[in-house]
Amino acid sequence: MQHVRYSATARLLHWIMAVLILSMLPVGFLMVQTGLARAVQDALFLYHKNIGVAVLLLAFARLLWRWRHPGPDLPASIPAWQARVAGVSHGLLYILMVAMPLAGYIRVRAGGFPIEMLDRIGLPTLVPRSDALAEVAKSAHYYGGIALAVLLVLHIGAALHHALILRDGVWERMAPLSRECKT
Ligand code: HEM
Ligand code: HEM
Repeated sequence: MQHVRYSATARLLHWIMAVLILSMLPVGFLMVQTGLARAVQDALFLYHKNIGVAVLLLAFARLLWRWRHPGPDLPASIPAWQARVAGVSHGLLYILMVAMPLAGYIRVRAGGFPIEMLDRIGLPTLVPRSDALAEVAKSAHYYGGIALAVLLVLHIGAALHHALILRDGVWERMAPLSRECKT
């Protein structure tokens, strides 16, 4: 039988990660601003680093699931070029989903800073202490953050276009609560 929407597991992972990643971007940009109260900045860093590590673990689980369970075919009404653009942009989102937390991890560890959740369970830092490496990772994390934000504007815009204007069943493939599918 041909599947017409993503499995419940794929949808659950997509939406948990969407909420977490959509919070990581504003928190990341906000916490590096000057003039924040120290306690607020500490709380934002604590959230960002530890939830970021959770995002990395979820991304590995999601990629593994995706590899074993490919998504459903797109509806035949979608032109080939749009299917290609969607495929490339989803590929880039998967890459950034891993690269962003990885770069953040390296930036923090190479810089000699704590990641409270991992330190508590005694995980070794896995990355050598190096200011040069921390600087490279910091730049990658910054430009990756901008690329991710731009891609997500396009991604969410496309999803809304399908859901509200085209109503062609593409939204229902990933909708968190949909019971039936029109495609
Ligand atoms: C409000 C936010 C979001 C909405 C409305 C949304 C909507 C959707 C929809 C409708 C699809 C299915 C597209 C299709 O049928 O081919 C999809 C797929 C996907 N979304 Fe999102 N999304 C959101 C946030 C995110 C975030 C934050 C990420 C991660 C950075 C993300 C990554 C992906 C990926 C990688 C796929 C492709 C799944 C696959 O084919 O394996 N999405 N999204
Ligand atoms: C999906 C995951 C993540 C996203 C989307 C994300 C996004 C961002 C963004 C947009 C910034 C602001 C960039 C800047 O102004 O330099 C930032 C900063 C930062 N992030 Fe992340 N981040 C993620 C995961 C992580 C992880 C896992 C860690 C560490 C464990 C981390 C550590 C940091 C640090 C330390 C900064 C401040 C950079 C600096 O100025 O030194 N991030 N993040």
